Amino acid sequence: MQAISRRLGHQSLKPAASLSSFKSIYPLSDHHYGADHPRHASSLAAKGVGHLIRKGTGGRSSVSGIVATVFGATGFLGRYVVQQLAKMGSQVLVPFRGSEDSHRHLKLMGDLGQIVPMKYNPRDENSIKAVMAKANVVINLIGRDHETRNYSFEELNHGMTEQLAMISNEHGGIMRFIQVSCLGASASSPSRMLRAKAAGEEAVLREMPEATVMKPAVMIGTEDRILNRWAHFAKKYSFLPLIGDGSTKIQPVYVVDVAAAIIAALKDDGSSMGKVYELGGPEIFTVHELTLCMT
Ligand SMILES: NC(=O)c1ccc[n+]([C@@H]2O[C@H](COP(=O)([O-])OP(=O)(O)OC[C@H]3O[C@@H](n4cnc5c(N)ncnc54)[C@H](OP(=O)(O)O)[C@@H]3O)[C@@H](O)[C@H]2O)c1
Repeated sequence: MQAISRRLGHQSLKPAASLSSFKSIYPLSDHHYGADHPRHASSLAAKGVGHLIRKGTGGRSSVSGIVATVFGATGFLGRYVVQQLAKMGSQVLVPFRGSEDSHRHLKLMGDLGQIVPMKYNPRDENSIKAVMAKANVVINLIGRDHETRNYSFEELNHGMTEQLAMISNEHGGIMRFIQVSCLGASASSPSRMLRAKAAGEEAVLREMPEATVMKPAVMIGTEDRILNRWAHFAKKYSFLPLIGDGSTKIQPVYVVDVAAAIIAALKDDGSSMGKVYELGGPEIFTVHELTLCMT
């Protein structure tokens, strides 16, 4: 665990206070998009959120100065990101597109008026601008591991991400943009979803060179969609089918640690800006080994 913190310190997600809650994240690599990687100039208002005016002792009833629009806040990772933002006294704007129920659990995480659900249409530019209007931070957690009738992988992971970055750029007051992608996302991946995710990362860093990209491995936690499914299946049928020989390796990461990584990046002195972090948990398992834990 300590080794992880040491590596993180080295990798510049700096503030020591944040790092203590950050224990099981292994930054598998961080790529620096510096002078050797020319990109367009950014219009990010200032380096990081360090200069924001804060009030109070730093708890839920204080004011962190951060007003964050969290796209995808209604999802698995979203609830932990919102919780950690609210816990330090930030205002969180929660764009939602479905029913009022989708964000009910988030309301209780912040002080009165700090969690603001806002209905929006992800295909309507003005609607996106409206949910970002008062923000100084944008976090994009939108993603899906399957296509739907209405949204292809490309539209969701690339098109929509690019649009959010462009609007944030035009906004002029967005100090931090955090994009959550996937470990393994690459233009040469055999998976269409991962190729679309990689195109999304590229678009964000082109539009906003000072954005931070987080690439978590498979996330686990109370509501995860991997261990829970396997456990239910194993409980019901007393066995788990294994696809292939089960030798595929995965490095599951605790969802709370991924949320902590996002918050630590937000709170740093700007040193995580323009960087890409790969986030994995402390142990690597084969799928076979993980399924054995379930049975
Ligand atoms: N879960 C993992 O193991 C894992 C691993 C690596 C990376 N990631 C990435 O981490 C991010 C968060 O993952 P997660 O597990 O929290 O995802 P999730 O639980 O599936 O939540 C996805 C979020 O994206 C929103 N969304 C989906 N389709 C949308 C659309 N067409 N328009 C607008 N919003 C849409 C959902 O809103 P609605 O509630 O309205 O559908 C929801 O808020 C994603 O980018 C994902 O690719 C996840």
